[in-house]
Amino acid sequence: MQQNSEFPEEYNNLNLIFEKIWSILETGIKPISNNPAHTPALATIDNNNLPQIRSVVLRSVNRPKREIWFHSDIRSSKISDLSNNKNASFLIYDPKNKFQIRLLTTIKMHHNDPKSSKAWNNLKPMSKICYQVSQAPGTQLSDPLKAINTPEINNEGRDNFVVLVAKIIELEWLYLHHKGHRRARFNWLNNNWDSGWITP
Ligand SMILES: Cc1cc2nc3c(=O)[nH]c(=O)nc-3n(C[C@H](O)[C@H](O)[C@H](O)COP(=O)(O)O)c2cc1C
Repeated sequence: MQQNSEFPEEYNNLNLIFEKIWSILETGIKPISNNPAHTPALATIDNNNLPQIRSVVLRSVNRPKREIWFHSDIRSSKISDLSNNKNASFLIYDPKNKFQIRLLTTIKMHHNDPKSSKAWNNLKPMSKICYQVSQAPGTQLSDPLKAINTPEINNEGRDNFVVLVAKIIELEWLYLHHKGHRRARFNWLNNNWDSGWITP
């Protein structure tokens, strides 16, 4: 197909799209301002079968293992969602490239194990403070100043810290252009990435 500089180089090329998705994800671990891949939206299904969505910070990407890593508080609602249903989706919209990226994953949680210990030890002291609050995330407060830090009763916050490892089973890419939209999907099937175009 003819390529035109009006379009991104990935426009008609599934291999380039795949590379670009991973490059956006890998760059996403850097806390650069305006980096949309640094704070994807994570969607889970709650215990009432309702969709729930929130922003999370992308901490690590492992392309060979198809993994993206996040941190959270073991007491937060997303953890009970994931305990009942490990399926989760992530959404990134990259306005610079005008790419929408959707990831379908299954999430494993690591709490008080070697993976979570290693991640905890690499956290900055400032980040540890988030996990030292005595009230669970989502608990009602009569006053916003009543969320209190009690590092002495939660092992400096470590007891509340959990690492989420999302294993990617499907990647989807969408690019909208008035002369022709493009949408592609990549599914992990039989130990390989199966790719194809889909109707935008
Ligand atoms: C920019 C940004 C980054 C965030 N990063 C995280 C994160 O990495 N992990 C996390 O658990 N919550 C993070 N949050 C808070 C969540 O979006 C959410 O409000 C909180 O985790 C409670 O969600 P839940 O009740 O659905 O579990 C972040 C919020 C914002 C605005």
